[in-house]
Amino acid sequence: MLVAESGADLEGHGLRRTMGLFQLVCFGVGAIVGTGIFVGLSDSVAEAGPAVVVSFLLAAATCVVTAFAFAELGSAIPVSGSSYSFAYATLGEPVAFLVGWCLLLEYGVSVSAVAVGWGQYLSALLDSVTGLTLPRALAAPPGDGGVVNVPAVVVIGLAAVLLVRGVRESARATAVMAVVKIAVLVLFCAIAFTAFEAGNLTPFAATGVAGITSGASIAFFSYIGFDAVTTAGEEVRDPRRNIPLAVLICIGVVTVLYCLVALAAVGALSAGEVADQPAALSLIVDEVTDSSFGGGVIAFGAVVAIASVVLAVLYGQTRVLMSMSRDGLVPRVFERVSPRTAVPVAGTWIVAAVFAVPAAVVPLDVVLNLTTIGTLAVMGVVNFAVIVLRRRHPDLAADFRTPLFPFVPALGVLLCLYLMWGTGSGTWARFAVFLAAGALVYALYGRRHSRLGADGGVTRRGAPGG
Ligand code: ALA
Repeated sequence: MLVAESGADLEGHGLRRTMGLFQLVCFGVGAIVGTGIFVGLSDSVAEAGPAVVVSFLLAAATCVVTAFAFAELGSAIPVSGSSYSFAYATLGEPVAFLVGWCLLLEYGVSVSAVAVGWGQYLSALLDSVTGLTLPRALAAPPGDGGVVNVPAVVVIGLAAVLLVRGVRESARATAVMAVVKIAVLVLFCAIAFTAFEAGNLTPFAATGVAGITSGASIAFFSYIGFDAVTTAGEEVRDPRRNIPLAVLICIGVVTVLYCLVALAAVGALSAGEVADQPAALSLIVDEVTDSSFGGGVIAFGAVVAIASVVLAVLYGQTRVLMSMSRDGLVPRVFERVSPRTAVPVAGTWIVAAVFAVPAAVVPLDVVLNLTTIGTLAVMGVVNFAVIVLRRRHPDLAADFRTPLFPFVPALGVLLCLYLMWGTGSGTWARFAVFLAAGALVYALYGRRHSRLGADGGVTRRGAPGG
C-alpha cells in the first residue's frame, strides 16, 4: 500500500504536470552531459590510457543496471525526491535520511564540481576569442594556486535565477542546451576522428586493471544525473510510462556519445598528451585543426553544456530537499513554493548559496570524487531497494520490472561497491566523516522533527519499511 499512496497524496503540493517524454529526455541529457566528459575525460585517460573506453563501458554498465532499478522504482513510486523517496518507501526513515544526506553529494557538491569545470572552459573560450587569460587568483581555489573561483560562483548564481523563474521555462532552456551539447560532442568526434591513428591506441592498457578501475570511477561522474529525471516525478505527464522510458533512453544516448568521444580523443592524440589537460576537448581540436578557432567553438559549446548541468542538478537538489522537508527531516523552508510559479524559491537560493562556497574554494578532484562516491552509495542502495520491494510487495503494480531478478540488482550493488573502491583512500576518509556527520544530524534533528515518527508511522507513506 505504502507505495501506491505516495503518488496520489503528493499531487496537491502545487507542482504542475508540464513535462512530456521528449522534454524529459532532453532534461535528462541536459542533466547528464557536462563536466564529466568535457573535463573529467582527461583525468580518466591519465589513469587508464587508451583503455579509457573500457572504463567508460564499465561505468555505463553500472548505470544501465542501476537505471533498471530506477525505472522499476520510478514506475512504482512516481513522486519527486528520487532515490530518497525510494529508500523511504522501502528501507525506512534512517536509511532514507542517509540517502538524502548522500544526495547532498550527488546534487549539491556536484553543483560545485560541475561549476568548477565550467570555469575551465570559460577560460579556454576567453582565451580563444580575446586572447586574454583570467587571472589565476580569481579563477582557481587556494589549493590550486588561486584565491577564489569566481566563474564557478557566477554560474551557480545564474542557474538559481533561471530556476526561480519557473520550471517550464527552465526545462525548455535545458532542452535547448541538451541539443547544443549533443551537437558539440558530435562535432568534436567529426574533427578528432579525421586525425585518428590506430598507433595511438597501443599500448592499450599499460596501467592494467587498477588503472581501468580508477578510470571507471572518474568516468562514472560523467553519467551522474540520469536519475534527475525521477526527481521531476510530480511535474511529468503520465509518469508511470515516461519516467522509466526517459531514464533508459538517456543512458543509451550518452553511453554511445561518451564511447565515441573517448575513442576519438585517444585516437587523435596520444594518451600522454591528453592526460590531465584542462579543457582537453578544446585542446585536442586546436591541435588537430592547427588553429584556435575550432577549440573556441568547442569551448563555447562546453560553456553552454556545463551551465545546463548546473541548472539541472541544482533543480534536483531543491526537489530532494522538498521531499525531505515534507517528511519533517529538514526545515520547512525547503518545501515552501511560490503560489505564482510553484517553485521553491527560498530553497533554491539557500542551496545555491551553500554550494557556491565549495565551488569557490575547493579543488576540482576533491569535489568530483566526493560526488562520485556519494552517488555510488545512493545507487547501491537503490539497487538493494528493488530487491527489498519485490520481496515485500511481490504483487505491486509496476509498469517496468527489472529483468533477471534478483541477479541484475545484485550485480548493481556489486558494481557500485567496485567503483566506490576505485575512488581511493582519501575520498573514503572524507566520505566516512560526511556519513558520521549525517548520522549525527539525524539523531539530533531529523528523528525528533520527523512527521512520520510523530504520528506513530501511520502517514501518507504508511509504516516505515513497509
Ligand atoms: N554528469 C554530470 C557532469 O558530467 C555531473 O557534469
